[in-house]
Amino acid sequence: MQILDMNMINFRNLDDEHLEFDRRFNLFLGKNGQGKTSILEAIYFTVTGKSFRTSKNKEMIKYGRHKMGAFVNYEDRIALKSISVKVDEKKKRYSYNRKPIKYDEFLGKLNIISFIPEDIELIIGSPSVRRSFFDYEIAQADPEYYLYLKSVSKLLKFRNKYLKDRNTKDPMFEIYNLEFIKYASLVVKKRIDYIKNVSRLLSLNYRKLFDGEKELTLGYKSFLGELKSPTLEEIGGKIRKSYEEVRDRELRYGYSLIGPQRDDFIFLLDNKEAKSYSSQGEKKSIVFALKISEIDMIIKEKKETPIFIIDDISSYFDSIRKGNILKYFQKREIQLFISSTSDLEIEAKRFHIHRGGIDG
Ligand SMILES: Nc1ncnc2c1ncn2[C@@H]1O[C@H](COP(=O)(O)OP(=O)(O)OP(=O)(O)O)[C@@H](O)[C@H]1O
Ligand SMILES: [Mg+2]
Repeated sequence: MQILDMNMINFRNLDDEHLEFDRRFNLFLGKNGQGKTSILEAIYFTVTGKSFRTSKNKEMIKYGRHKMGAFVNYEDRIALKSISVKVDEKKKRYSYNRKPIKYDEFLGKLNIISFIPEDIELIIGSPSVRRSFFDYEIAQADPEYYLYLKSVSKLLKFRNKYLKDRNTKDPMFEIYNLEFIKYASLVVKKRIDYIKNVSRLLSLNYRKLFDGEKELTLGYKSFLGELKSPTLEEIGGKIRKSYEEVRDRELRYGYSLIGPQRDDFIFLLDNKEAKSYSSQGEKKSIVFALKISEIDMIIKEKKETPIFIIDDISSYFDSIRKGNILKYFQKREIQLFISSTSDLEIEAKRFHIHRGGIDG
């Protein structure tokens, strides 16, 4: 997939512009605070409907304005298409080929992977950071997963309400329980399969790009404990059994104590948890190898190459690692959007950013 051009209105400090992109490398250059991250964020936002640096839509609206939006034309294997996202103080609106659509349909139309300095949180941050990351990655390749997640979170709310009201004798509670087990099992199964595949790629990519000596693996720490390759029925059985075990405690606390909302994922470098043992440089490289592995996951599922974003490459890799990364992208047919405070040795369309103005 390739984004051909973009229009934006009132996005952060950026001037309202029409930008035409190169099908391969686009490099955004500028000093600190000029708007480089904002441009990458605008691209990411138009493709995903969310930001990579804030969960508050309002923050992306230019100071003093009330709405913003961005529009892109893109091409996938099949045709030329367009999508847009608009935000005002109350609502977000999506469109596809100039017709309004719902988020469920918008999700995964275009595939994108971003690499930004804050991504280090994937290693050092809380489990919820990893859960939202993997949930989005699985969903953008497999939209059914998003529907399962939505059902789980809705049923979890119902369950919690009954537990809070100590109303578990109500026959509806058992019905919600059964539904919860059904969707939670589907989520767990997808997570198991996805993580198994990513872990394999991750290990290969880390070796190839950064360190041929060390073995990097990714594990799924499910709320159900150790899981090998269970069937859906076996997962359902395990969830039911766990419910029996926590039944009394759940009633006492008044909320759900088990479910995929308690899952976590763990990075191991040479069998040691990266969070506690890996160096800063290793952590960044682990995250990068993960993002690269996501490319292959998307190609496998969607038969499309995703778009890739790298923010501020110079600030977190030394020249050798930077060189490896650029070489990697030169070898692959991927559209890349990259920002840097200093010029890079690659053939690219260059955009110079100064106080929100873009010269390209
Ligand atoms: N909603 C907004 N409206 C207007 N300006 C904003 C908004 N949000 C952030 N800014 C400003 O936009 C400017 C550009 O920020 P951005 O993060 O894009 O810079 P950058 O070029 O990536 O800088 P650095 O190299 O330091 O990372 C900053 O001065 C920031 O304060
Ligand atoms: Mg920046």
